[in-house]
Amino acid sequence: MTANNILAIDQGTTSSRAIIFDADLKVAATAQQEFAQHFPQSGWVEHDPQDLWRSTLATCREVLETADCTAADIAAIGITNQRETTVVWNVETGAAIGNAIVWQDRRTADMCHALQEAGHGELVAEQTGLLLDPYFSGTKLKWILDHHEGARDQARAGLLKFGTVDSWLIWNLTGGRAHVTDATNAARTMLYDIHKGVWSKDICALLDIPMEMLPQVKDCAADFGKTDPDILGAAIPIFGVAGDQQAAAVGQACFEPGMLKSTYGTGCFALLNTGKTAVASKHRLLTTIAYQLDGVPTYALEGSIFVAGAVVQWLRDGLGVIGDAAETSVLAEQSDRSQNVILVPAFTGLGAPYWNPDCRGAAFGLTRATGPAEMARAALESVGFQTRDLLEAMHADWKSHDADPTLRVDGGMAASDWAMQFLADITGAPVDRPHITETTALGVAWLAGQRAGLYPQMEGFAKAWALQQTFAPQMDESTREDRYAAWGRAVRATLSV
Ligand code: G3P
Repeated sequence: MTANNILAIDQGTTSSRAIIFDADLKVAATAQQEFAQHFPQSGWVEHDPQDLWRSTLATCREVLETADCTAADIAAIGITNQRETTVVWNVETGAAIGNAIVWQDRRTADMCHALQEAGHGELVAEQTGLLLDPYFSGTKLKWILDHHEGARDQARAGLLKFGTVDSWLIWNLTGGRAHVTDATNAARTMLYDIHKGVWSKDICALLDIPMEMLPQVKDCAADFGKTDPDILGAAIPIFGVAGDQQAAAVGQACFEPGMLKSTYGTGCFALLNTGKTAVASKHRLLTTIAYQLDGVPTYALEGSIFVAGAVVQWLRDGLGVIGDAAETSVLAEQSDRSQNVILVPAFTGLGAPYWNPDCRGAAFGLTRATGPAEMARAALESVGFQTRDLLEAMHADWKSHDADPTLRVDGGMAASDWAMQFLADITGAPVDRPHITETTALGVAWLAGQRAGLYPQMEGFAKAWALQQTFAPQMDESTREDRYAAWGRAVRATLSV
């Protein structure tokens, strides 16, 4: 075998995965490992950084074995990752100074309120395109520095480094030789000026974050270093890095301004490509970098929902009404249509466009006849309603442009025909599901593979995107608007409790 495969690492919120793509960008083998979630207090979510690294390494080794490959068969590695999750480690010991604070963690809600009250929201929005919310890395990093004695001084002395999960993995893969990240991950830290392409001195000063601890920021297809030969058996170049939602936008070939994708994992993240213009949202969306190639950022408007697939997990693990995610659609199909149960899954507050970290979930319209089937339907519908909230905001922000209304979908829940049909019905727009729904890994495999000279350039890759099914809206207009209005009332009630 020659080195004509790409190893894609997808380090997600609940599992680490490794996928080998062959010379035709087809999946040759996959490996996956779950790891422990830690909830030390209400609203806190942590990962052990060693779990992230060990599970990544184990899946890389396993996938090489399954595909009957050695490191010599791999032309390059691409890394995509859960974004915003914050790790701080000691360069001498290689050990993290505490658990990683996960993107879902709300512990810095009060800190964000205080910064907002003090009038810093504008600076943050102007430079980073983000809102002052605990979701992003900046206040998580400040929290770590505030709670570990001497950490700031050690960081100033170059002894402690900060990274999102991509940086942490690259540090370990390269045997501590590279402290780097890419522009899409940097764009989620709330510390990066997305217009100037540099770390923000103003925000670092505001949060008292020593800039010595920040990684070097690169394009998404760049030289991020080589793996230490002892780790996978040979030195493999790391040529692609992108945050998982941005990698999915790349994998969905959303390369033209106006193209839109939505990924249904733990949460749901919709990205609208806005081209070379960083559109400042007037409707509480985020402005972010979709990808950066040859030093040129392509921007996106992003809507982030914290609970999508997680609502199905809750049906399974919390309520115990399903044994397997696929049962949700079957139950929804059997539900009593005369009941209008609405579930607002604000388990960890609400993300875009409400941005309320304090509210909690609620169900409306319950009767004595409400059972698992109606709850399953309400759970799947909540994902459609939340997506419509995002699309409404996107269209309002982007109304001067011609946007293709089609939504390209991927992620676990995209496999549910029932959920995708409801999505088309409630948004009143076509929903396109591609053949390959491994879009996150595909996106970063392409970034790494085209840099390695293995895969076609952007145009050729976009042409290869293949539709599996379109879901066309079938619901009549007045039902759609009545149901969406009921959702709006339910959200307002949830926010007011
Ligand atoms: O912003 C958080 C996002 O990157 C997490 O994605 O797929 O791990 O739920 P996922």
